[in-house]
Amino acid sequence: MSEGAKKKRLYLKTYGCQMNVYDSERMVDLMAPHGFVLSEAPDNSELIILNTCHIREKAAEKVYSDLGRLVPLKRKALSEGKNLKIVVAGCVAQAEGEEIIKRQPAVDIVVGPQTYHKLPELLFNNMKSSRSVVATEFPTESKFDDLLIDKINDNPTSFVSVQEGCDKFCSFCVVPYTRGAEYSRPAQDIIKEIDVLVSKGAKEICLLGQNVNAYHGLMGKKAWSLSRLIKEIAEIENLKRIRYTTSHPADMTQDLVDAHGQIEQLMPYLHLPIQSGDDFILKAMNRNYKVEDYISIINRLRSVRPDIALSSDFIVGFPGESEQAFKNTLNLIEEVGFSQSYSFKYSRRPGTPASIMQGQIEEKLKLERLLVLQEVLNSQQLIFNKSFVNTKMKILLERKGRKDNQLVGRTPYMQATHIENKTSNIGEIVEVKIDEATKNSLKGNFTNSRIETHN
Ligand code: 5AD
Ligand code: SF4
Repeated sequence: MSEGAKKKRLYLKTYGCQMNVYDSERMVDLMAPHGFVLSEAPDNSELIILNTCHIREKAAEKVYSDLGRLVPLKRKALSEGKNLKIVVAGCVAQAEGEEIIKRQPAVDIVVGPQTYHKLPELLFNNMKSSRSVVATEFPTESKFDDLLIDKINDNPTSFVSVQEGCDKFCSFCVVPYTRGAEYSRPAQDIIKEIDVLVSKGAKEICLLGQNVNAYHGLMGKKAWSLSRLIKEIAEIENLKRIRYTTSHPADMTQDLVDAHGQIEQLMPYLHLPIQSGDDFILKAMNRNYKVEDYISIINRLRSVRPDIALSSDFIVGFPGESEQAFKNTLNLIEEVGFSQSYSFKYSRRPGTPASIMQGQIEEKLKLERLLVLQEVLNSQQLIFNKSFVNTKMKILLERKGRKDNQLVGRTPYMQATHIENKTSNIGEIVEVKIDEATKNSLKGNFTNSRIETHN
């Protein structure tokens, strides 16, 4: 690939979690020096990347059917004397490997989450030899060393990957197999990346990791905890908001709890998945904590930061989930009170211990339980949002809304908020009086236009 003047179109589809969104942005950064610009649609592209997710059942089938739809595009490109390259990246790539090329020969490159930094090189080799390439090893060198931090965007809010992979082996989850062992980036590299982002205008940083609170990256010869890292980042001038996701209750140490009471920039919102409110199910899930441990974390968080908003993931219909176990989850939800949540029917992932456990639950019952659970969660979310009507909130303006003159931002508690624009700009933190609330968002009007405090 040369650095020719002609721009080439890159279409990228991202499936799944925030880690994938982050990886996709890095892939765009990696390809940009080779003349690739992002396009909205796959037509007329020269490079198509599907950055896939493997967390749900039929994930691979969905990717194969999406690939099937790309074949005519590849044929059309060939008939016009052009060369369209198709890349499958992410966790389905990692899990399926060679199989992808066997089932869909139109694919040129299969690249796992730990090897995508080699994408330009892989593409170059593929162009020379026309042979398809599978790169799914877990290399010893870190992909982060190759990522181009000075290319990153100028969004007011940015994700920074600090930790990857997982050693927890929850019995339902494929992540330890697709993302590999836990790895924490050196603290110095993270701080450097955040310095660049803030100098380009980022006001909010979300530290990202599959198990972010297990962070133990090196600073010199010492391992830093997540709370230590957050304290350092809080010293960066002009960085107003800090968040982190996703956390595991077993790694929610007291120093991290305390940080919520000490660091003004650390936002009062925490995503802390419990999965189930029943000790027997939690044990079968290999989650390594009991319901009372979770409640104790919540109580300690609320004692240092009384207004903290909490969100969680829930799985219903895990093998062996009795009616009482399900009720225990509902009781836990009533007891804690969540500002928002994600909930799923248990789905059998081949190769995971839970997929061959006794007591698999029939789909119909899973769906019934999911609907009951979601009704409770939705009503909590609505009550939470409505509690802010007629109050003033600080909103970080993130982007333009769909309507003319509309801006969209977030409250400290992560609620999306729509505002009629007057004089403010994206990237500012403004004070807004909330007029309306629905389950999914708030609507408000400016009071004064700018705020120069934290958060
Ligand atoms: N079935 C249902 N939900 C799952 N999750 C992960 N694996 C499964 C599965 N096999 C959910 C968990 C996790 C979230 C990212 O996805 O709740 O926290
Ligand atoms: Fe999966 Fe459990 Fe690791 Fe989360 S902690 S990524 S659910 S194995």
